[in-house]
Amino acid sequence: MKDLTMEQIRMLVNTAIQARENAYAPYSHFKVGAAVLGTDGKVYTGCNIENSSFGLTVCAERTAIFKMVSEGCQSFAALAVAGSEKPGESGPCGACRQVISEFCEDINTTPIIVAGTKGEFFMEEAIKLYPRPFMKFEPNDK
Ligand code: THU
Repeated sequence: MKDLTMEQIRMLVNTAIQARENAYAPYSHFKVGAAVLGTDGKVYTGCNIENSSFGLTVCAERTAIFKMVSEGCQSFAALAVAGSEKPGESGPCGACRQVISEFCEDINTTPIIVAGTKGEFFMEEAIKLYPRPFMKFEPNDK
């Protein structure tokens, strides 16, 4: 696991919990927040954004990662997500795990922090959450 200080972990967990407040979730009423630490040193936040056409919903993790990329940073050193009260009850969905695998700094070591809304969390390497990503095409023109 990539070394993160306890301060960085706390900061990412608290930032994800805060970002959760901005969720637009009038259909599921399940709010999620995320925070990624870009390899540029900046923190990017995201929340879930639902739509009346349900399939158009975007998860908090992807919102945060896409904001990072659109702001000019193409990899992250850590990601925190907060949805349920207890950390064990939620974690990135399959689609987000694939997107995480694309943009994490190193799939073997980048920590994914799954937090509860009260601040409890567990943390594991991206590879543990998503062991065999789809990687048919190598990114050869970043
Ligand atoms: N959701 C996320 O934002 N992230 C996750 O990790 C799992 C699910 C959102 C999508 C939808 O708005 C709501 O949670 C219920 O599925």
